[in-house]
Amino acid sequence: MQHTALTRRIAASPLAPLATFPIRLAAAARHNAHAVKQTASWLVRSREHVHYTYDLEPLNLEHLSWFVATSTGTPVDEIRGYLAEVQQDEQLRRLVAAGLARSERNATTDPVVRYGRRIGWYAFVRALRPGFVVETGTNRGLGSAVIAAALLRNGGGRLATVDVDDRAGELIVPPYDKVVDHVIGDSLEFLAGPVARQQPIDLLFVDTGWTPEHERAELAAATPLLSPRAVVLATKTYCWSELPRWAEDNRREFLHFSEKPRDHWYRGVGIGASFPALVRA
Ligand SMILES: C[S@@+](CC[C@H](N)C(=O)[O-])C[C@H]1O[C@@H](n2cnc3c(N)ncnc32)[C@H](O)[C@@H]1O
Repeated sequence: MQHTALTRRIAASPLAPLATFPIRLAAAARHNAHAVKQTASWLVRSREHVHYTYDLEPLNLEHLSWFVATSTGTPVDEIRGYLAEVQQDEQLRRLVAAGLARSERNATTDPVVRYGRRIGWYAFVRALRPGFVVETGTNRGLGSAVIAAALLRNGGGRLATVDVDDRAGELIVPPYDKVVDHVIGDSLEFLAGPVARQQPIDLLFVDTGWTPEHERAELAAATPLLSPRAVVLATKTYCWSELPRWAEDNRREFLHFSEKPRDHWYRGVGIGASFPALVRA
């Protein structure tokens, strides 16, 4: 009580900014000390210098469950089950770990499997049971392997993925390669070609992350290829507005999920989701 009265008196005084300086300094110092500790631990235990991998905070996983549930119209408990399923998939974990260990880039990758937001991608595939999935930006193939594992669990569906880097896709190993068409080339050429047009796209992952202009061009090229129930996901919605703008232009819904990495200094990226318009009362 006394403390509240004192705090009020300080706040009303013209010297308020000066008087609260030590409290504010201590709060910022505590926050920064935590970040420095996490950074120091990461510098020692990790070799990654790009495409950081991490797990998500437990509360962030709960938010991810609700995000996927809302975007797909699926009960949240079912989505929680899919997040648990992929995290407990020992075959996927073993095959990805083996792929990372033999990677020619293993000097700059960690031989530890950390899916981050991709477990949300898995839940999208399990919940929507898409016949055809397209991913732009394969990179090592971590997302592709996760998507393929979900398609195999669904018992149907194919993934077509493209990357301009000819080293991409090293994690698309058997049995995942059975359901994946892996193309090396530019994503816009790919979206104009036969592999991306083999059937209507039910789920599109826009993940080249190159420039906003490139993402806009990818969305424009993919629009006529989408099935009526298609869901479109993008990673860069944390830093640019291409997907929400496209959603509005196409009278669709949009939501964004922000990652909170566990034990990592990196602030994380996210998942933007655009899905067919809800019928509003
Ligand atoms: C963020 S990474 C993709 C991550 C991946 N989806 C995953 O799950 O780990 C982006 C990738 O897009 C690729 N890329 C960038 N521009 C491209 C383009 N114009 N066409 C195809 N791939 C491109 C890069 O080579 C890079 O591997």
